[in-house]
Amino acid sequence: MNFARAILNWYMVNKRDLPWRNSNDPYSVWLSEIILQQTRITQGLPYYLKFINKYPTINSLAKANENDILILWQGLGYYSRARNLLKTAKFIVDERNGKFPRTYIELIKLKGIGEYTASAISSICFNERRAVLDGNVYRVIARFYGIDVPVNNHLGKKFYMDYAQKLAPKKSCGDYNQGIMDFGSLICKPKVPLCDKCMLAKDCIASKMKNVNYFPVRLKNNAPKITHFNYLVLLDSDHMICMDKIKNGIWKNLFQFPMIESKKELNKTQVLSNEIFKSIAPISNSDIRLFNSRPIIHKLSHKTIYAKFWILPVDGSNSNSIKFSDVNKYPVPRLIEKFLDKFNYKHF
Ligand code: ADE
Repeated sequence: MNFARAILNWYMVNKRDLPWRNSNDPYSVWLSEIILQQTRITQGLPYYLKFINKYPTINSLAKANENDILILWQGLGYYSRARNLLKTAKFIVDERNGKFPRTYIELIKLKGIGEYTASAISSICFNERRAVLDGNVYRVIARFYGIDVPVNNHLGKKFYMDYAQKLAPKKSCGDYNQGIMDFGSLICKPKVPLCDKCMLAKDCIASKMKNVNYFPVRLKNNAPKITHFNYLVLLDSDHMICMDKIKNGIWKNLFQFPMIESKKELNKTQVLSNEIFKSIAPISNSDIRLFNSRPIIHKLSHKTIYAKFWILPVDGSNSNSIKFSDVNKYPVPRLIEKFLDKFNYKHF
């Protein structure tokens, strides 16, 4: 049987019941696809529900402020997705009268919408024949056709993009796209695929060769870099705490404590003699206490952070100080949240 036909038939019977699948409304499909990038459905679903409840239309989202969006997004990571979501909602409302673009070519011009999202929205909502390519799709295609082209470089991506586009059916491409992704997560799973339940197994090259785990082929990446973050938690006697708004990078516009980054782990003497420390706490402060002797390890895709939190009682508050009891009104990276979950300022 034709590959796309088999996926469509499977999807008709096994389709997951997901809230954005109840309509072809581009706003809900867009929101769900942005949330689900780099995120499993079980993790993303509660976020989708929170967002769609608070912002049921693109008009309501466009009126939101960035702080509120970042707070709702907290814990999902890759915060540029949230910032771009808001920018694009404002753009569609202000510049296009609230009308969502209907074609891949128009969609891909929008901030935060790349090839994957433009393909998903244009196929699911507007019946365009555009194949999506995500981790599931790479895996299913590589296994079924026994393709050993590595997936994680530019050439590989181009190769699979062309391959996937040729496989996509002329009709029902949106269902096919969602079908191959559901099939990848439920049957053709990364580690333990359910080949005995798979309608494609008898024609699947990887399954016939009994080496499903060989596919998809990935070139070995260098190990992620390790970096050390020394957070300075400045706490005054009125329970004010110093938090800075992050200016750049993946955590832009989230909040964190003043921080010293280093290649090696720092001890107390090294923290005290650091220039950043001196500029923040000019008086030599020997009251500084290490909150966690074992660093909190926080893994990002490109680096691993070892974080230590130094508690530092100070006399007066400074301009960036906020009430500790207000801390949950500020969006923070998950790493800071992990610390706040454990930290009880009354003990200090
Ligand atoms: N993963 C991301 N988007 C998806 C969708 N629309 N269906 C299934 N899995 C997905």
